[in-house]
Amino acid sequence: MPRKKQKKINEAFTFENVFYEKQENVFKLLCDFLGSDKPVTLELGCGQADYTVNMARLFPEKNFIGIDRKPNRIWNASKNGTESKLKNAVFLIAYIERLAEVFPPQSVEEIWITFPDPYQRRSNMKKRLTHPRFLNTYKKFLIDGGKVNLKTDDETLYNYTLEVVEKNGLKLLKSTDDLYASQKLTEVEEIKTKYEKMHLAEGKKITLVSFCI
Ligand SMILES: C[S@@+](CC[C@H](N)C(=O)[O-])C[C@H]1O[C@@H](n2cnc3c(N)ncnc32)[C@H](O)[C@@H]1O
Repeated sequence: MPRKKQKKINEAFTFENVFYEKQENVFKLLCDFLGSDKPVTLELGCGQADYTVNMARLFPEKNFIGIDRKPNRIWNASKNGTESKLKNAVFLIAYIERLAEVFPPQSVEEIWITFPDPYQRRSNMKKRLTHPRFLNTYKKFLIDGGKVNLKTDDETLYNYTLEVVEKNGLKLLKSTDDLYASQKLTEVEEIKTKYEKMHLAEGKKITLVSFCI
C-alpha cells in the first residue's frame, strides 16, 4: 500500500471527530461529540462527505453523521468537517451492513445514500444499498416514517429502487430521472458530491428517489 494512504488510515483513527464501529459505546461517543442524542441524518458511503458537511452548514440546529468503511476516505471527510469548524458533523468508520449494532431504535431521522456502487449485475443485487435486506436494517434505527434518499447516476439502480418502493408498499415522496432538469430543487438536493461532479462532467444525468420507510 502506498505510504501516504497508510498514513491517512492510521491518522483517521486519531481525529477527534472520527469514531469507529468497534469502539465500546460508540453511539454514546457520537452523541457526546454532537452534544445531544436527538435524531440525526446519516450519509451512507459518504466518501469525502460532501452531503454531511454541506447539510451541517445549512442546518446548524441539526446533527449529521458521515459513514464509510474506508478510513482513508473518512480522513478526507474529517478534514472537510474540521476546516468548516463544524460541531454538528461527525464521521464514523463502519460497514453499512452493521449499523443496526451502532444505532438504537428511533435514533435516525433521515438517510442519504450518495452515489453508491450500483452493482448492476442481477447476481449482485443483494449488495445494492436499497435492496430490502438493507431497508430492513435501516428500519431498525429510523424513526417512524423516516426518510431515505438515493442519488445516483445509474439508471439500473434508480429503476430497481423505484420497483422496491412499489413492491414493498413504501411511500414514494419524490422521484426524477433527471434531477437538474426538474423545477424547484431544494438546497439539499442541489448539493453536489465528488462523484456527482465527475458524472456531470461526463454528461450523465443525475437521478433522485426519496421515500419513507
Ligand atoms: C462511489 S463512492 C461515493 C462516495 C461519495 N458518496 C460521493 O458521492 O462522492 C462509494 C463509497 O461507498 C463506500 N462503501 C461502499 N460499500 C460500503 C459499505 N458496505 N459500508 C460502508 N461504506 C461503503 C466506499 O468506501 C466509497 O467511499
